[in-house]
Parts: sequence; structure tokens; C-alpha cells
Amino acid sequence: VLVAHSAAETHFLFWNVETTNITHNCFSANVTTVNGQIPGPTVEINEGDTVVINVTNNANYEISIHWHGIFQFLTNWADGPAHITQCPLNIGSSQIYEFTVTGQSGTFFWHAHNNWLRATMYGHFIVHPAAAPPFGEVAAEYSIISGEWFSQDPNVVELGFIDTLNPVENATVANTINGEPGPLYGCPADTQIFPVTSGSTYLLRLTNAGLNNDHFFKVANHTLTVVRADGNYLQPFDTDVVVITPGQTTDVLLTANQPIGSYYGGVNVAEVPNVGAPPPSTPALVIIQYEGSNSTDSPVTPEFPSMFNLMPVDNYTSFLKGLEPYSLPETVDVELVYVAGIASVNCNASEPCTTKIAGTIQNSTFDDPQNTSVLEAYYNNIPGVFTTDVPDLPPVFEDFTSQPDRNYILGNRGTRTRVLQFNDVVQLVLQNVNAFGILDHPFHLHGHDFYVVGRNYTNFNPDVDPAGFNLVDPPKFNTISIPNGGWVALRFQANNPGVWLLHCHFERHKTWGMEMAFITENGSGANETLPGPLHPPPSCT
Ligand code: C2O
Ligand code: CU
Repeated sequence: VLVAHSAAETHFLFWNVETTNITHNCFSANVTTVNGQIPGPTVEINEGDTVVINVTNNANYEISIHWHGIFQFLTNWADGPAHITQCPLNIGSSQIYEFTVTGQSGTFFWHAHNNWLRATMYGHFIVHPAAAPPFGEVAAEYSIISGEWFSQDPNVVELGFIDTLNPVENATVANTINGEPGPLYGCPADTQIFPVTSGSTYLLRLTNAGLNNDHFFKVANHTLTVVRADGNYLQPFDTDVVVITPGQTTDVLLTANQPIGSYYGGVNVAEVPNVGAPPPSTPALVIIQYEGSNSTDSPVTPEFPSMFNLMPVDNYTSFLKGLEPYSLPETVDVELVYVAGIASVNCNASEPCTTKIAGTIQNSTFDDPQNTSVLEAYYNNIPGVFTTDVPDLPPVFEDFTSQPDRNYILGNRGTRTRVLQFNDVVQLVLQNVNAFGILDHPFHLHGHDFYVVGRNYTNFNPDVDPAGFNLVDPPKFNTISIPNGGWVALRFQANNPGVWLLHCHFERHKTWGMEMAFITENGSGANETLPGPLHPPPSCT
């Protein structure tokens, strides 16, 4: 266990990315892992520490790794998204990610950031705060990372999503916790056990590392106290169910205040689109086992809310308030309203297939640059790699929540960015263009936290809605779900020079191009100027 308040340390880690035959209950497959484990190694450091992670790629695919939620202040080169801040790491090559974590703490995670490799390449990144957390001491901390297990190599599933209108939607065969589906999947299971002692309080670090599903988390008969999300403290509140979207982390306290016994805790899918084949609705379970109870006690099973019901999601979300007050100026420098949508695209001469699906932001479908990254092109002034023409407002302010004009959300392809000046205060409204029934979009911004100052299940009205923004105690996240048929209003400061991806954290939507990048120009001082890479980035050929 790390001692907080110690002098800053540097942690040298060596990671081997390899193809590993993994058996998780019934499911056995050759998958891409870090050090042969799912989840991969936990990075555990103190705020202020530096990590130097030497990654060698001995797998069958090119790879890259992203440190989700870590600011990477002035170390944009270590951020990791393939073709955005680096080329992917070739098979047989090594890369060093070096960065210092300052000004943030809590639960984060790392994951692969190319193709669908993050299905099996993910792990926790825990930063112990310099100052004692407001929720006090806990008896122990447990990591609970939810995910998905696939019937095939996830990169093969991805190809199906790229090529056809009817992708292998039921390719998710199980929900998982820490890689394991648990006892309900009908195999002799080594169910994970988390021991607790009556009267003690535990910190559960919950992360949704899944690719395509929102998750509920619950423990039978126990109330959970939500205290932190995405590394930011919340005004604590009690709930019997936590909602986590892919890319979010949520820290909750569990007090062992029930009769001595065993209780299942688990994860099930939430907010499922009512189109296509639904994902598995069988929860992944673990056992919370009281001291004095044992494996012969049959655990109490939690009841999950319906996966098609938005009410529990909305209820939960309405309780999220920041512990620290809003700290940005009231007036903003840049106002953006971006619409995000999914559309079917009819083929033409340049798209010689029958039908495809596109994800769009502001009517544009993102293309990765070839053989370079946006950051390399920006830093070295290479022309022709990206454009800076993402419009600030949608071309037409129509009713986005009913049937939208298909021409409106049909993507034109491009590698589009929006340039921000250093320290701009940005208000970004994300509107969900809801074409296909229940469909939220968990949006993640690299390199920053944002305040969520507004949210509703409506069409955003720029004349009316800003008056209701919470500029007192909004929650601060790096990932937020844009609700079905609705919008979120975010505020952040462009205080980090470099290229920062904004994208839907549903992997299928990202595959379909629902992403764009902000480029924050250098400021004037030495500390505001993006340095070159600390280590040579992977070669782009
Ligand atoms: Cu967790 Cu760009 O991703
Ligand atoms: Cu999406």
C-alpha cells in the first residue's frame, strides 16, 4: 500500500502485449492482453508521481494505449489514441509512455485505443490523492471493472460493424466483472469473493470498460454512497443502483451493515437501444462475503432495473453534483453546439457496397489520417492531413429529437478539427440526434475534465436553456452520456496545448466515425508551449 504525502516517485513499468489463450468460465479464446492478464496490471501511484511505462508489442496486432482521464498536461504525445497523437505501435516494436500525474487523483483506467483491442486490454489507473479524501478512512478498497466478453476476436467483430448494415450485434456473449462473467453463466465458476467485516466501510472503485453497453451496478440489500466519479469528488448521495457509461469511473462506499451473510454484487446492461439484437441481460456477479459467512451460504441476488427503462438512469443522474463549486468564469469565450448522430448511408460510386452506417458529429464522419497522426501533422506543420472546419453550430437549428432529415445526419467524411486558443473557456452543447429509438452516446474528451452544467431529454433551445444552467455545483467528469433524444451542456477550459480527441465511447459508434479533435494552440509562456515527445513516437510506416 502506498503512503500518501510521500515525496514524488517515478514508477518504471514493463508491459508485454501478447496473444494469450484465456479461459473465463465457459469462454475460451486467443486474445490480446497486457502481461497475459484480464484486466491488465493496475497502475497505482500517488498524485505528483511520474510513470515510465515501457510497452513491447508481441501480439498479432498493432496497438496503442490511452490513459483515460489523465490530463497529460504538456505530454500530449503520451495520450495514446492511434492516428490522433501517435501512430500505432508495430508488431515487434517498443514504445515508452512517460508522464507525470498532477492536479488530479482518484480512479482512472487505461485501455487500448485502436481497433477493438480495448475489449481485452484494460486495467485500473489509481492515483492516491495528496490530501486525505473527504469521505474518510475505509477498511479496504476493491476494484470492480465491468466489461464484455465476445464470441469472436473483437477485432473481427469490428470488421463486421464497418462493413454491413447488419453487424454481429449479439457478438457480446457475456457481461463481465474483472474479466469474469460469474456464476449465472452456467459454468463451474470461480466466483470472485470480496470479504467484508460487519460494521466496516469499503471503497468500491467501479469502472465501465465495456465497449458498447451502459451498465447498472448493484449489491443485494445494500445501499451505496456515491462519492467520486472520473476523479472528482461529488456531493455524497445514497443509491441502491449506480449507472455507469463506458469510459466512466464511479467510486462508492459500501458499509457492511446487513445481517452476516453473503450477498451478490453485480453488473447488468442499462439503456439498451430498442433496435437490433439486445446484449446479454444476465448479470455478471461477485460475492460480498461477511466475515462469519462462508461459501455454503447461498448469496442474496440483487434485482436489476429493466434495461429498457430510462427512469433509473435519469433519477441517478439528477443526484450528481460537484463537491467543489464551479470555478470557471460565468461568461464563455467559445460557444459550440454539436449534434451527434447515427445514420444509414446509401452507397454510391465511392462507397461500393449495399449499405453502411455512419456516426457523425456536426454532419461529419471522422477519418483517421493514414501513416501519420494529427498531432505529428500539427506539430511538424505537415499540410493536407487534417482540416480545421468543424462548424460551431449545426447548419440548421431544427428539431433534432424527432425524425431528423436524413440528409442532415448523412456524414461527409473528413479529418476535421476545431482550433481553440490557449485558455479559451468553452461551452459545448452536445445534442443527440435521435434516429433509432433509445440510444445514448457516452462522450469522452481527452486531456480535460468538463463541468456538466445542463442536461435534458429535449431539443436544446439556445434562447431558453442556458438560463437554467447550473453554475453553482455542477459535477465534473471526463465522460458523459448524451441522453436519448436529449442534450448535455459542458464547460471546460482549453488549458492544455495539443490535439485532444472528443468521441463517443461506444466502440461501434467510434468505429462508424463519431469523433473529432480539438487543437489547443500554444499559449505565450514556456509552461504553455507543447514540447516535443519525451520518447520517439512509433514509426508511422
Ligand atoms: Cu477511453 Cu478516447 O478513450
Ligand atoms: Cu454513440
